[in-house]
Amino acid sequence: MIDQRQLPWTLTHIEYDDYRDVAQAIHDMVVRGAPAIGAAGAFGMALAAYQSPSMDMGGLIEFLEVAGLILNKSRPTAVNLAWGINRMMKVARDDVYSSVKEIRDALLAEAQRIADEDVALNQRMGKHGAALINDGFCVLHHCNTGALATVDYGTALGVIRAAHEAKKSVRCLLTETRPRMQGARLTAWELDQLHIPFEIIPDSAAGYYMRKGEVDIVLVGADRVALNGDTANKVGTYMLAVLAKENRVPFYVVAPSSTIDLETATGEQIPIEERSPDEVRKPYGSALIPDHFPVRNPSFDITPQKYIAGIITEFGVIAPPFKENLPQILKRKK
Ligand code: MRU
Repeated sequence: MIDQRQLPWTLTHIEYDDYRDVAQAIHDMVVRGAPAIGAAGAFGMALAAYQSPSMDMGGLIEFLEVAGLILNKSRPTAVNLAWGINRMMKVARDDVYSSVKEIRDALLAEAQRIADEDVALNQRMGKHGAALINDGFCVLHHCNTGALATVDYGTALGVIRAAHEAKKSVRCLLTETRPRMQGARLTAWELDQLHIPFEIIPDSAAGYYMRKGEVDIVLVGADRVALNGDTANKVGTYMLAVLAKENRVPFYVVAPSSTIDLETATGEQIPIEERSPDEVRKPYGSALIPDHFPVRNPSFDITPQKYIAGIITEFGVIAPPFKENLPQILKRKK
């Protein structure tokens, strides 16, 4: 894995040979972003299959069930993690194998398939979304949704990238995304390499720029989209959506179908991860706030569907009413 905690200063890689360390890496945000942790969880399962000491297939499945629970607990909000693990368990439980080795090989191949598919889906989402970007647009973008947050290319950042590749002139305002600074550290690092112009703004400046008329469209990713379209994404997304509506700026969510959770009826049922108060007290190790000052640190929030103009998926742009359109389009296309 690229150690995302070290960017933009150093590009370092970490290798894992124990699935429990993969779970810890997901929790600690060495790797982060919904589709990226879905793929990391799948590779964690493949690793567990090779770690299992079991010589019989039943024992291997039991080992994988425990590994799945441990990996799944590492972060609760992004549905892609559970989706990746469930997909791996489905492959493991297939009745076509005659040896432990065959199951292991099938799991490694499935993890690689999940990774490869993710790249292809992002490129398709990019093309669909780029149609919404006019030449000269300024896009407001939150958190990091690029190659780092996926396997490659990106979701919301993939749309920006596709518009740039289509030779449209596009520039970005990047919210810094406190407290982990994914926008300032990671999205800026990616756009710098892609030569797409950007400016980092404090999270609290988004309304100022929208009201000035500088923002043409807001693009964000998602960690889980409920059946009715309510969307969990990096904390601060809800504020942006409300501000976008107030200022008549279109607000789009960009997410692959693996992020759409038709089993969850509304945003109310989406679990929101609370992270350590130390992320707020001591961002990147430097103490801002004394330890005895109480702090709360929700990592995500829910944007009600009424603020969302459309959800850009690999199948195209899905318009409201999402409760009808999401299941219809997803089931038809799959
Ligand atoms: O806490 P993070 O950095 O994992 O949160 C990531 C986000 O909220 C992204 O916007 C989301 O996963 C979509 S990324 C393609």
